[in-house]
Amino acid sequence: MSEEINKFPQLASSSQFIPYISKEEINGMVSSLANTISKKYENEDLIVIGILKGSTFFLADLVRQIRNVNLLIDFALFDSVGRTKEEVGTIRIKQDIKSNVRGKNVLIVQEILQSGRAATFLRDRLMISKPRNVEMVTLFNKPYQRVTDFSPSFIGKEIDDHFVIGYGLDLDQYGRNFKEVYYLKYPN
Ligand code: IMP
Ligand code: MG
Repeated sequence: MSEEINKFPQLASSSQFIPYISKEEINGMVSSLANTISKKYENEDLIVIGILKGSTFFLADLVRQIRNVNLLIDFALFDSVGRTKEEVGTIRIKQDIKSNVRGKNVLIVQEILQSGRAATFLRDRLMISKPRNVEMVTLFNKPYQRVTDFSPSFIGKEIDDHFVIGYGLDLDQYGRNFKEVYYLKYPN
């Protein structure tokens, strides 16, 4: 691994980030997900909706490997307050989708799924427009603090209950551009 993280002192605790998932492993997961999704939606229409900003890197790599699916790309941006299981959590739409999902297959794309609140909020918002079907793909799944029952149909990898950055995932907006994924090791 390149350990590109060590070059960025603005991540105050950069020395506490440990290489976790390599570029090669990510590529393998993305290819495998793209194959599965291609088979599932072969020769069908599909609206792929990325939840900004974290999903953009994964989405870009994923859709370029999906074959024989007539797909459109859209995005939504949410503001969420309250991430723990105990907090109720409030979600606001900051940028809504632009496409009409009525009668369409929709695939929600997340880079990581934790509580499930953002994806469930989007799913419920989409249901008003009567899509044909709404499924979700997440690259990383952290099921430990899940508060909703909207399960991803496609999962790249189940990971431990770590805080991770890289490949779209940020710590206070930094680290999204790292090619590899690092986890935060808490000092004991
Ligand atoms: P949730 O499933 O609604 O809790 O939201 C998942 C969102 O929380 C992701 O899109 C990320 O923005 C953020 N998130 C969850 N876990 C992590 C992490 O380990 N690192 C960075 N962001 C995370
Ligand atoms: Mg974030």
